[in-house]
Amino acid sequence: MNSLPRIVIFISGSGSNARSVIRHSKENQGYHVQRLYSNKPERGADSITADLDVELGLLSDEILAGPALFTKLNEENIQLVVLAGFLRKIPVSFLRGFKGKLINIHPSLLPAHGGPGMYGQRVHEAVIANGDTESGCSMHYVDEDYDTGAVIEQFTCPVLPEDTPKTLAARVLTLEHEHYPHVIHKLLNP
Ligand code: GAR
Repeated sequence: MNSLPRIVIFISGSGSNARSVIRHSKENQGYHVQRLYSNKPERGADSITADLDVELGLLSDEILAGPALFTKLNEENIQLVVLAGFLRKIPVSFLRGFKGKLINIHPSLLPAHGGPGMYGQRVHEAVIANGDTESGCSMHYVDEDYDTGAVIEQFTCPVLPEDTPKTLAARVLTLEHEHYPHVIHKLLNP
């Protein structure tokens, strides 16, 4: 086993950010992705782990709340838990154990357009409805509420007059793929 800092990634959806983070880890050797966890593996996680030769882990609310996962990640010396489109709430017990080592990506410039129910397309609909001329993504620490933890970094892109939620989502996602792997790299290799 290599001596790189180890991370795990939690996803619920197609996991395009996870794919980008795993690719970066293999090309740049700044961290090692120990496992990709999903609570909906059939939505994309299974093909990512098959394509990129990473172990797949299954999550449920019970597993997240129980001690076994926490113990395993500690035994494996996991230094960062990376949320990338993970839509279940992280239980307080897990949060406390990984305080300062749990990060998330959100597709807006927080604190704008965050909070319960604000994920995916809904965020971009809100940005357009609000008449914002700039959007982007935020990488932030996870605390006990939705999208309220300290921001680590933000990256911006324009909102164009002709944008639909779909076109804006695609622009923000490109920004996420470009920057999330580097933010993780920097946190683990200060
Ligand atoms: C990303 O845009 C991420 O910022 C967003 O879900 C998408 C996941 O895409 N997260 C949230 O909205 C969290 N509130 P992916 O599965 O293709 O990486």
